[in-house]
Amino acid sequence: MHSIKKVTDDLIWVGANDRRLAMFEGVYSVPNGVSYNSYLLLDEKTVLFDTVDKAVVGRFMENVCFALSGRNLDYLVVQHMEPDHSAALMEIIAKYPDVEIVCNAKTFNFIEQFNNVPISSEGELNIKIVKEGDTLKTGKHSLCFLMAPMVHWPEVMVTYDETDKILFSADAFGTFGALNGALFADEVDFDKDYMDEARRYYSNIVGKYGAQVQMLLKKASAISIELICPLHGFVWRRDFDSIIEKYMLWSQYLPEEKGVMIAYASVYGNTENAAEMLACRLRDRGIATAMFDVSVTHASEIIAAAFRFSHFVFASTTYNAGIFVSMEDFLNDLIAHNIQNRTVGIIENGSWAATSGDLIRKKFDACKNINVLEQVVSIKSGVKEAQLNEIEAMVTAIAADF
Ligand code: FEO
Repeated sequence: MHSIKKVTDDLIWVGANDRRLAMFEGVYSVPNGVSYNSYLLLDEKTVLFDTVDKAVVGRFMENVCFALSGRNLDYLVVQHMEPDHSAALMEIIAKYPDVEIVCNAKTFNFIEQFNNVPISSEGELNIKIVKEGDTLKTGKHSLCFLMAPMVHWPEVMVTYDETDKILFSADAFGTFGALNGALFADEVDFDKDYMDEARRYYSNIVGKYGAQVQMLLKKASAISIELICPLHGFVWRRDFDSIIEKYMLWSQYLPEEKGVMIAYASVYGNTENAAEMLACRLRDRGIATAMFDVSVTHASEIIAAAFRFSHFVFASTTYNAGIFVSMEDFLNDLIAHNIQNRTVGIIENGSWAATSGDLIRKKFDACKNINVLEQVVSIKSGVKEAQLNEIEAMVTAIAADF
């Protein structure tokens, strides 16, 4: 049986959903599942855009076979070789041995690396190497290939169907979450139910590569687009200005809104208490706050919040003369995602020698345009009268930006 969905009169979604996966890429929780999108174009020639993850290969092969309805498969366009989209590549070749693989030169190398087979020349596989701006005529449709390196791997390319103005966008514009029977973003309340997961997907998967996303957005702005078909999540057919606007902000490391993301690491609750007091005083001044215990909340959630808000406060106890381990891990992760253009406040705690504040400050030396506030709240074991003034000073410094 099949679970295909019609995208246009001659384009069919033949992907699959996975709701059993505990950790996407081994690190990101996907409590609402994830979709692996693949699209089949039925023109004079038949064209498959990417495949799926190994967990759903069976369902995918059924879908492709059903959608082809007895026709042969002429082309497989490989836009991204990450295995969540290429695990069925060899199965497709085995079932449709005449299929021509359309990819770029970097992809060709990855096909060899991932499949552990010597593919020393194009002749051993039926491969058509394409480069920036090359086109492939499939009958009524004309496909133009645009390179999008590092969105999110070096070999990534996107495809523009010049006939129906469809952008097959690879990982760009993807979202965590299974599709649950819908296909188009306008079939769901995207802003309410999916934007948080789109942000978590973008910031964690592609967030490090803002400059490369900017290059892709520039290419996309030069073409007329009526549909965006990503490799995860919903197809966009209208109102995609809002998601493009988010991508413009995220890729430039600009906050979506003014507010304070407070992340804390606390052993016995005293550092947490200082963070809570700060949050209360910020709220008293009408400033939005979001709070996370870095030892409890998965880093991907906090990184997503960091891409959303303009100000951060990090509160950490001192541990083994350093930053508390879960906070240090989180900060390393955040900085690896290239975060920029933010104001940071620091709360430190240390019963005999508080060092975490200075160490946190030094970590941000590696970042662009991070303003670390001079006002540090320094606690010895628990908050005392003196720290109330320090908390107030930090609130006042933050409030001055609002
Ligand atoms: Fe969904 Fe970078 O693969």
